[in-house]
Amino acid sequence: MIAVVLVGGEGTRLRPLTLDEPKPVLPIGGVPFAALMLDRLAAADVSRVILSCGYLPERLRAGIGDPPAGMEVEVVVEDEPLGTAGAIAYAARGRVDGPYLALNGDVLGDADLGALVRAHTERGARATILLTPVDDPTRYGVVVHGPDGAVERFVEKPPTADGLGPAPWWVNAGAYVLDPDVLADVPEGRMTSIEREVFPGLVGDGLFAHRGGGYWRDIGTLESFLAANADAVGGAVATRLGGADGAVLVDPAARVDPAARLTGPVRVCAGAEIAAGAAVGPDAVVGAGARVGEAAEVARAVLLDGARVGARTCVEASAIGRDAVVGDDASLVGCALGTGAAVAAGERLEGERRPG
Ligand code: GDD
Ligand code: MG
Repeated sequence: MIAVVLVGGEGTRLRPLTLDEPKPVLPIGGVPFAALMLDRLAAADVSRVILSCGYLPERLRAGIGDPPAGMEVEVVVEDEPLGTAGAIAYAARGRVDGPYLALNGDVLGDADLGALVRAHTERGARATILLTPVDDPTRYGVVVHGPDGAVERFVEKPPTADGLGPAPWWVNAGAYVLDPDVLADVPEGRMTSIEREVFPGLVGDGLFAHRGGGYWRDIGTLESFLAANADAVGGAVATRLGGADGAVLVDPAARVDPAARLTGPVRVCAGAEIAAGAAVGPDAVVGAGARVGEAAEVARAVLLDGARVGARTCVEASAIGRDAVVGDDASLVGCALGTGAAVAAGERLEGERRPG
């Protein structure tokens, strides 16, 4: 099985974390997000993955790590964004000759993609969309479908829930199985949206929905990025991290002072240092080589690799970029710092986005 993964977005809502690296390279529990996605594809017997990319392709190539054994990964670069349908068609052209998976590259989930493929084949569908239930349909593609799964309407980001039936709404989870002919007519060289242009035209013509189970989250905002990290360590989503409720996952190559306090879910990666009197967690990830100073407090936060938090500093609901430095006696709430950003001793920041 072949999978095309869309990773072309600039991750604007996650700036400044995404100013110098694309969203799929950002860590979830200390592991590049894309690596978790490749694990999941390997579990569904996918042997070839095509990453459809336009933004920072070199950084993407370098940042995803080694693919799972037996999997081949190719990065296909668009000169300019082609839209979701255009990008899948461009990446698949000349590379697929049977049904293939296509995925949005910003969704953390654990629904069984193998089951999605089987549902597609068993029904003889032309396209099958994985669904997930949500409480707010306006941010997603709503898929109205009959009891047999046949799609009756596909409405991308409806302004309101009016006329879409009762909650919960089943929406496009960003994973499809497509027959090769479905995107054959997508014009080359212009933006085409699979959600707005292709799926509505396939209604009644072989478009089916498949209700998935398990965990599901789009990691595109600071809040959802932090929540995804907490969920991976806390075991709400099944990943290679082996997270569990209240888990304290400390790499053997991390140095945690005996007088530091860790409250799970928390993960401390290789080479990280936590000084005496520091309190880390719950819902915290301290990246590789990152340092937390004496009596500092870090909760509901992610420190990317090499980040440093000074003594007595408080970091809450924030992401601290790679190699960023926060001085002593500072306080950050709801902030995102870019790579190499600096916060002076004693500074108190709330909701700030500071590039490096
Ligand atoms: N290569 C490439 N080229 N990738 C693209 C392009 C493009 O022109 N445009 C978007 N992408 C990628 C993004 O990087 C992301 O991984 C995916 O396509 C979806 O784009 P988003 O911008 O994140 O869309 P969304 O989150 O607002 O909505 C989509 O996802 C929802 C689920 O999270 C839609 O598919 C909705 O229907 C769906 O419910
Ligand atoms: Mg998205």
